[in-house]
Amino acid sequence: MRTAVYPGSFDPITNGHLDIIERSSKVFDKVIVSILTNSSKKPAFTVEERIEMIKKATAHIPNVEVDSFDGLLVNYVHEKKSNVIIKGLRAISDFEYEFQMAHANKMLAPDIETLFMMSSNNYQYLSSSLVKELANLNGSISELVPECIKQQIEEKF
Ligand code: PNS
Repeated sequence: MRTAVYPGSFDPITNGHLDIIERSSKVFDKVIVSILTNSSKKPAFTVEERIEMIKKATAHIPNVEVDSFDGLLVNYVHEKKSNVIIKGLRAISDFEYEFQMAHANKMLAPDIETLFMMSSNNYQYLSSSLVKELANLNGSISELVPECIKQQIEEKF
């Protein structure tokens, strides 16, 4: 059984995240989407809200699990009996930060591989921050987030 962990803030989940989840669910037997709970970032949505939104948005994918973690990602990946971290890579802006994290994780846990999946073209410039900014200013987020959670996001702002 090949299990991969897809970690992130998912504040909130976007179509860009969903694209990575759908594609990686075809490569692995199980994909665990996991929210970092002890982030220094101040989230707009609670962990419970974010879990609920991811569950709704991935309800059509049978081999996806939604969870949360704190502390070191590599410890969590071991706990889940996995050795693969999935990361989405957009344009060039993500590269430096992701490169650094992949190296740190490799140093901490040499048995764990970080696999990067390039974001699909339409989502290269999509981020949770952009979604929050648009929602806050009453701009349309229809193209950017799964339809089933759009209302919940709009209600928050
Ligand atoms: O969606 P994000 O905010 O870019 O996700 C970042 C995340 C959660 C993947 C990253 O911050 C993380 O893995 N944090 C856990 C702490 C950790 O293991 N740090 C060591 C790697 S540098």
